[in-house]
Amino acid sequence: MSNYDIIYVPDPVLKTKSHEVQSITDDIRGQMDKMLQTMYDAPGIGLAANQVGILNRVIVMDLSDRENGEEAAPWLMANPEVIWESEEMSVMQEGCLSIPRQYADVERPASVRVKYVDYDGEQKEMEASGLLSHCVQHEIDHLNGVLFTDYLTSLKRNMMLKKVDKLKKQGLL
Ligand code: NI
Repeated sequence: MSNYDIIYVPDPVLKTKSHEVQSITDDIRGQMDKMLQTMYDAPGIGLAANQVGILNRVIVMDLSDRENGEEAAPWLMANPEVIWESEEMSVMQEGCLSIPRQYADVERPASVRVKYVDYDGEQKEMEASGLLSHCVQHEIDHLNGVLFTDYLTSLKRNMMLKKVDKLKKQGLL
């Protein structure tokens, strides 16, 4: 199984809203597996389908510290949707595989409850706080065509775009 190519800013696919998955077929499971492998190899902790050019509502995440021997703990989700968010907010530094080597503080609800459809087609809910909360909100944003840089000033956002462009021109991506 080869990996997907990760798409970088400013590709318009990253600003496009994705459509719902109708049912969890073998094709969707195959996509989830391949997205997870692509994310592991990048390496990253989250990946949304439009980052590999597919416009359906699929995300994968894994926050385990595999480099230090922790067992993999993948989340494979279709149609994830925030159904509750805390009033309490949290600020954490975020990055994105589509905006390589750029990081910034982003403020989001500290905790969220998310409903989704899992790998087996079951309707599930999860509660997330801390890094997992930031990660799942960041990935759901992707499905709506929103990037973490959209929360920054245009000055900061444009600076990051220029830096990514420079990395591309240097052949570093
Ligand atoms: Ni991202």
